[in-house]
Amino acid sequence: MKVLIVGSGAREHALAWRLRQSPGLTALWVASGNGGTAQIATNLNVSPDDVEAIPKYAKGLGIDLVVVGPEQPLAAGLVDRLDAVGIPAFGPTQAAARIESSKSFALELMREAGVPCPEFNSFLDETLALSFLEKHSELTVIKADGLAAGKGVFMCRTFEEAASAVRACMSQRVFGGAGDTVVIEEFLEGPEVSVFAFSDGERLSPLVAACDYKRLGDGDEGPNTGGMGSFAPPDFWNEELAGEITRTIMEPVIHALARRGTPYRGVLYAGLMLTDQGPKVLEFNCRFGDPESQVILPLLVGDPLDIMAACIEGKLADTPVEWSKRNYAGVVMVSAGYPEKYETGFEITGLDADERNTNIFQAATRIESGRVVTSGGRVLTVVGSGDSLAEARDAAYHRVQSIGFQGASYRGDIADVEARTRLWLPDPAAPTG
Ligand code: AMP
Ligand code: GLY
Repeated sequence: MKVLIVGSGAREHALAWRLRQSPGLTALWVASGNGGTAQIATNLNVSPDDVEAIPKYAKGLGIDLVVVGPEQPLAAGLVDRLDAVGIPAFGPTQAAARIESSKSFALELMREAGVPCPEFNSFLDETLALSFLEKHSELTVIKADGLAAGKGVFMCRTFEEAASAVRACMSQRVFGGAGDTVVIEEFLEGPEVSVFAFSDGERLSPLVAACDYKRLGDGDEGPNTGGMGSFAPPDFWNEELAGEITRTIMEPVIHALARRGTPYRGVLYAGLMLTDQGPKVLEFNCRFGDPESQVILPLLVGDPLDIMAACIEGKLADTPVEWSKRNYAGVVMVSAGYPEKYETGFEITGLDADERNTNIFQAATRIESGRVVTSGGRVLTVVGSGDSLAEARDAAYHRVQSIGFQGASYRGDIADVEARTRLWLPDPAAPTG
């Protein structure tokens, strides 16, 4: 099988690494890839967002399967376009991808399917949104409806904070059209978990779960980022919780999309909050997570090409999906100054060290005169594995020590379960009521 992966991050490097282990793979391309994918596949110089050009390249290369990593091309209808020219693609259609590309769509769908989610109201009109907020001044979460690269979510403690978030979205249009509709949500508390399942439109695979870290600094201090680390499985994950999430969240949503005539095929990612009243959905994503992929793809037992083909053909019932019991921790190394201003072009050393139980998945890197150099903010993910989370964490941080580039920085508390548990325990200083 000739396969084309769309995307250029560490998620896509991890996908390429995992697909390389498929006996059925004969050739692998990545559009546009990075310095890591260049070593195990052929990079194509075409933007992952160019939904016009990708089908043409895929036709020209005689591609048998396209695997789409990021949400933007899915939301822009890449899978529909590939389908129109007869090329099988792993990922949902544009209609099914609305589960991520419109928060109000996802919430309405959950309401229809009886899936636990925060109380919410959506607004197309700023004045109406502001007058609603005047009557509901408690802690609220304001969200731009559309894709905003993880930046469109605001936790607001006061009316003023909430009002300025609404204005930023609606009249100032800082997210363009993505903020023309705004969702006002109830604030939920509890530990967060990212849950993933393959779907063939009707059926789901067993779930796999991971935790990710969005803030820049240890103890969840500092600005939001594209993700600073992850681990899998979470310490609290068990069969009972997985069963509850399958029954109350994943299956009802897959069935609701099928009933609407827009079946969901691909990997469904639910961002959940484990509240006192049980798991509730914060968001759905229409793809693998980043940096979660870097710790869940190594857990996948079996042939990913068979599983992806089964999702596309509606044959998941005949294709067992299994997740291994090993533990993985992923530490993201970033450029000095990220997520604000940073410099690039620094050589990365130590990538070739062959340490057991570790993997490096590159993101913002490129090859320049035979050397791997930095090309952006989130440079790479160092993954360690072990029979326990502590072993996985030690392996990852040991390997981090051997990697060098000017200004490299990373969080020191990834997969530290005790430190993470402290983060969601109620803050005794916080206002109540
Ligand atoms: P989202 O992009 O919707 O997942 O939101 C990004 C982050 O904001 C989540 O990972 C949560 O940490 C937080 N968040 C989103 N919605 C809520 C909510 N209703 N209550 C509390 N935190 C939330
Ligand atoms: N880990 C967050 C995301 O992939 O959206």
